[in-house]
Amino acid sequence: MSDTEIHKGLNGVVVDETTVSKVDAASNSLLYRGYPVQQLAGHVPFEDVVQLLWRGELPSDGERAEFLRSERGARALDPHVRAAVDSLPRSAHPMDVLRTAISAIGAHDSEPASPTPDQTYERALRVLAQTPAVIAYDQRRRRGQEPLESRDDLGYSANFLWLVFGEEPDPADVHAFDVSMTLYAEHSFNASTFTARVIASTLSDLHSALVGAVGALRGPLHGGANEMALALLDEIHDADRVDAWLGEALAQKRTLMGFGHRVYKNGDSRVPTMEEALGRLLEARPGSESDRLGELYEALQRGVLERKNLKPNVDYPSGLAYHLLGFDTPVFTPLFVAARIAGWTAHVVEQRSANALIRPLSEYVGEPYREVEVTTVDA
Ligand code: COA
Repeated sequence: MSDTEIHKGLNGVVVDETTVSKVDAASNSLLYRGYPVQQLAGHVPFEDVVQLLWRGELPSDGERAEFLRSERGARALDPHVRAAVDSLPRSAHPMDVLRTAISAIGAHDSEPASPTPDQTYERALRVLAQTPAVIAYDQRRRRGQEPLESRDDLGYSANFLWLVFGEEPDPADVHAFDVSMTLYAEHSFNASTFTARVIASTLSDLHSALVGAVGALRGPLHGGANEMALALLDEIHDADRVDAWLGEALAQKRTLMGFGHRVYKNGDSRVPTMEEALGRLLEARPGSESDRLGELYEALQRGVLERKNLKPNVDYPSGLAYHLLGFDTPVFTPLFVAARIAGWTAHVVEQRSANALIRPLSEYVGEPYREVEVTTVDA
């Protein structure tokens, strides 16, 4: 037995400094460059939040205008990227499609050697701007619908909804979606961001870091949870089944997706903001289906708190919000990617600004030293 202390899952380990964001225990909020995310979400557009994360400050009018011009000019899906998506089976998970698409974008737009932050941000902006088109193209092709062209007169979130659904989006829908984009944009050293930083620490390129981060985000313990949270609601179906369902699920030691968090042990600070947006979506859709979903949402949340003392994380309200907006469930995690490209990029640039190769140690517990027994085989 060795006395080396093992930090399984790096739980509680501080591996570096960051100026990008902070989970602030004092205010129970998530701060982006010092600003509480609940003061940003729905109050400034997602595009401003991206600039805040990348540049450290909210944009001036001139900076905003320049960013919007560049973002809107880069939205069209590159034919090479479209061809890469077309080469994939329609049965491929949308996260596989998006991972491949970001890789294809990178192959046609790679960074120069030793890129400046500006050169990295230019490329990140093109990934950010094209991602809605990739997601929309993929959802529409699965539904047998023709792809649509981006609209220059619409902001990022409104255009996203237009591209996917082909209808002038309702302002309440745009608001809820934009709120979700801001809440998902950044979250310090979570698994996917850390993955991006590990890749950046080898002096690899931006697109490799983004592709690796997409892979980490795909797992159900991380970004995949919004998709799985909706699957739980589908499975339970009615509020009056929650009690019996929970009893069985907990007896089977099932993980309740959309609940619990590694960092927030007393409630995810993003939840109230996302729940407010979700409430507006439910109100805008009066009827028995919204009543059923709203009651089920509340009942499961109450039941999990009573029986497991676990609170929901942001994936719980956002999963239902994306469902109400009309997204197919497997597309939920790609929506998280679209937002998190902002945070991942900020971390890649920060990692490079004071780089140290990330290379931890492990405690070997396998066979002790032994020698190969050489046996002579007759020819
Ligand atoms: N469902 C059931 N039990 C849960 C749970 C969940 N969602 N989250 C935590 N627990 C339980 C664990 O089983 C463990 O119980 P035990 O002490 O009896 O073994 C206890 O709570 C502590 O959990 P632990 O796994 O140590 O917490 P963690 O910090 O490592 O895990 C998550 C954090 C996010 C991985 C975990 O809460 C989880 O799996 N949640 C569901 C996935 C999810 O929603 N992910 C999105 C996060 S934003």
